[in-house]
Amino acid sequence: MKQEDIDKIAAVLDDLKCRTLKEVEEARVKFLGKKGEITALFDEFRNIDRSEKATFGKVLNELKQKAIARIEELKMQAIDDGAAKDTKMDLTLPGDPFELGSRHPVSIVRQEIVDIFRKFGYDVAEGPEIEDDYHVFEALNFPPNHPARDMQDTFFVSVGHLNPLLLRTHTSSVQVRTMEKMDVPIRVICPGRVFRNEAISARAHCIFHQVEGLYIDENVTFADLKQAILLFAREMFGPDTQIRMRPSYFPFTEPSAEVDVSCNICHGKGCNICKGTGWLEILGCGMVDPNVLEASGIDSKRYSGFAFGMGLERIAMLKWRVNDLRHYFENDMRFLHEFASATEV
Ligand code: DAH
Repeated sequence: MKQEDIDKIAAVLDDLKCRTLKEVEEARVKFLGKKGEITALFDEFRNIDRSEKATFGKVLNELKQKAIARIEELKMQAIDDGAAKDTKMDLTLPGDPFELGSRHPVSIVRQEIVDIFRKFGYDVAEGPEIEDDYHVFEALNFPPNHPARDMQDTFFVSVGHLNPLLLRTHTSSVQVRTMEKMDVPIRVICPGRVFRNEAISARAHCIFHQVEGLYIDENVTFADLKQAILLFAREMFGPDTQIRMRPSYFPFTEPSAEVDVSCNICHGKGCNICKGTGWLEILGCGMVDPNVLEASGIDSKRYSGFAFGMGLERIAMLKWRVNDLRHYFENDMRFLHEFASATEV
């Protein structure tokens, strides 16, 4: 064992520089680890001559203490340096913004319709998308051979039963479920997804959305229906909006009507959106057929009511003048981004 070797290690320790905690740990292993340089000197110390032990024992212990202290010092420096580096960040700068998505136009319109009818005292009701023939057709007074019951129009989930399962073709099925569950008076709107076996085009899709409305109480008349639709149309399309009702036919309402609103683009003068008529069709409606009330256990002598149903995509198309239904389903970001500002309202 030579004093010279010990001095050399002491000098290296004095000059030692570490930038990171990882380098400090490497230095610790180099000097004090199991195979470290100082550990090796202690191993050597065991075999040296007794006469030398007194001198080297003290010096070696001092070297080890020096190494431990130096490593500790370097460790603190590395931690301080790291912290200093971190604080170079300006913590007051705004963070990276999240790119917020926007609501889908169909959701925006649904929410608007729900909000309008909530103001009129309607509740929201929901029903299953996979329904049975009874709730979609039979309880709604569809005769057994009605074309809507055909495979051409309806997606069946199971066939060959008396009451096959199918994907609901309209949200009128929720009327039936609501009448079964709730006591009169009933005032609900039922937004939801519906399915029809249609070829996809600019005006038709196999999946779309409807909102159904149902109002049942004593003495409900066609005048109440008219008033409800007029108030809705004015909230939705503006206070100057006019409505017009045309006689129509639905198995579940009698009398039935289709409702047009005055074209909000040309204000009735006639343009290519309203095809020169000045009117745009928005929904079907009518007085609930007594057969429908009775099928769900409501006394049709005492109670009457009205119902209406509208397509959300159609309302959204009229509102934003979108001319192709397929835009709503293709998730083209350029299309969806156009509704970002509508979401904030
Ligand atoms: N269910 C009809 C459809 O899908 C829409 C409808 C018309 C609903 C008249 C009604 C109504 O409640 O009274 O075309």
